[in-house]
Amino acid sequence: MDARELIEGKRDGLAHTTAQLQFLAEGAARGTIPDYQLSAWLMAAFLRGLNPEETAGLTLAMAASGETLDLAGLPKPWVDKHSTGGVGDKTTIVLLPLLAACGLTMVKMSGRGLGITGGTLDKLESVPGFHTDLDPEAMKDQAKEIGLALTGQTPRLAPADKALYALRDVTGTVASIPLITASILSKKIAGGAETVILDVKCGSGAFMRSLPEARALAQSLEQIGALAGLKVRTAVTDMDQPLGSAVGNALEVKEALSVLRGETGLETTSRFRELCLSLAGIALKTVGLGDESTATRALGSGAALEKAKDWFAAQGADLGVFDSNNWSLAPSRAELVAKRTGYVRRVDARRVGEAALSLGAGRPTKGAAIDPRVGVNSFVCVGDHVQAGGPLFEVHAKDDEDAQRTVAKLSLAVEIVDEPMSARPCLLELETNPGPSTGA
Ligand code: URA
Repeated sequence: MDARELIEGKRDGLAHTTAQLQFLAEGAARGTIPDYQLSAWLMAAFLRGLNPEETAGLTLAMAASGETLDLAGLPKPWVDKHSTGGVGDKTTIVLLPLLAACGLTMVKMSGRGLGITGGTLDKLESVPGFHTDLDPEAMKDQAKEIGLALTGQTPRLAPADKALYALRDVTGTVASIPLITASILSKKIAGGAETVILDVKCGSGAFMRSLPEARALAQSLEQIGALAGLKVRTAVTDMDQPLGSAVGNALEVKEALSVLRGETGLETTSRFRELCLSLAGIALKTVGLGDESTATRALGSGAALEKAKDWFAAQGADLGVFDSNNWSLAPSRAELVAKRTGYVRRVDARRVGEAALSLGAGRPTKGAAIDPRVGVNSFVCVGDHVQAGGPLFEVHAKDDEDAQRTVAKLSLAVEIVDEPMSARPCLLELETNPGPSTGA
């Protein structure tokens, strides 16, 4: 078998065999297929597509291209959650302890942020002492003891995805539903989970801007998950406006902890809390251990907060972060206020994400440094009534110049109109598994 055969076959619209897909994944993982041939194949696959069987075959081959985490010995059910990425998305920090408090074993590998999309590892590492470098044994021991563990992605799991993703990033082949599906699910399978809750973000701050695109990705993830032997439940959720109030690493952890403490604050934070409870309800229903009301009780009783403290302590964090917000503070602050009275029609997640990125909260390029202290707090969400002079955003910056520059940028992120508006709900759609398909 050689790579040219695969490239030509896909160029001409032919379907690959399982053996061909294994050859490709192994060649990517081991570096035996050169980048120029992998790139040519990626473009052919991007343009011609992969049928469901090919996508499932590629997923399994990529999952098998490296080590897999064996969770044997941990109490079941083994559940993972994953978001396709958005602005202000800190749900993992609430969901992991919340679901562990409900009896699920949550073992999760998280990534770093790139561009306007934040990464859970960066957020948690903003907490003094929190370390995210558990090896597989330490991860299992911790999950056995307290029901949850989170670590960074190791290059040893699904190395084919690492190689292919790096090429997709620079060859215009990221936005392909079969390739995204195989990329996400291969890492989930290699990570050992049996059930995965997938939050597919939809809107200006997400990969998938429109509902039909997000729905198509969600359906593909459900269908290929089933073909690959993984129980996948997907929700399509709103990313037209930032999720919650905070965008920026330490700010987001502070907001997540406020939800775990049961504080009721801004409407923006209530929307975030609501989404956490909806996703927790989906997870609990999927594994037959309850529903949203079970999660609401675990949050209300303080059980989720106690679990979060166990988690943070196990991963080395300073538990003082639960009692005070006076940590990882940026030196400069500035506020944007409303120029007029009216109803908020738009809080553009993309623009808010770009503003946070330019402050240093995110990475313009892979490997760039971030500033954990900086970011934006949004005080309003779509549908809110605001008075002229009322606060819209608070910017946390490394200096006054950055703060003022960002305030100017944020004035383009919000639109205020005379007519009352209603926001679209956080949870847009819950996909139902279309079941295994045999067609192309
Ligand atoms: N997230 C992934 O892990 N892979 C993709 O291809 C896209 C988003």
